[in-house]
Amino acid sequence: MFVAIASDHGGFPLKKHLAAFLEKEGHMVIDRGCNDETSVDYPDYAALVAQDILAGNAEFGILVCGTGIGMSIMANRHPGVRAALVHRDEYAKLSREHNDANVICLGGRFTTPADAERFVKIFLSTAFEGGRHQRRVEKLDAC
Ligand code: RB5
Repeated sequence: MFVAIASDHGGFPLKKHLAAFLEKEGHMVIDRGCNDETSVDYPDYAALVAQDILAGNAEFGILVCGTGIGMSIMANRHPGVRAALVHRDEYAKLSREHNDANVICLGGRFTTPADAERFVKIFLSTAFEGGRHQRRVEKLDAC
């Protein structure tokens, strides 16, 4: 599948690792930067991935900053983007099953590469449950 990915300087090493991991797994990766650890502003990069999701360029997005918090705040300011800050397996799974999250946010300074690979794998392979959650997700996108 097409996956858009971006980071700021705090997330760059993990973003680089994940981009290579995703390609190895057979995904098409749209890498929106940044390209090194020079200081940049995370909202600029969150916006690029949000636009990819809304334009249909990518089915899912991955955003990495130092904590994942700034990226998730910015991504969620785009109606139609549902970004989840994930730091354990269950959050990756439930953010898909219950929230139909389309962007996963990770804290590059607090997430090991092995954990990040697992979170992303769970996120990309878990289906939205629909049912009672459909109405709730529609309310998210209506505001
Ligand atoms: C950058 O130092 C840091 O603030 C950023 O990566 C992120 O953690 C913001 O939420």
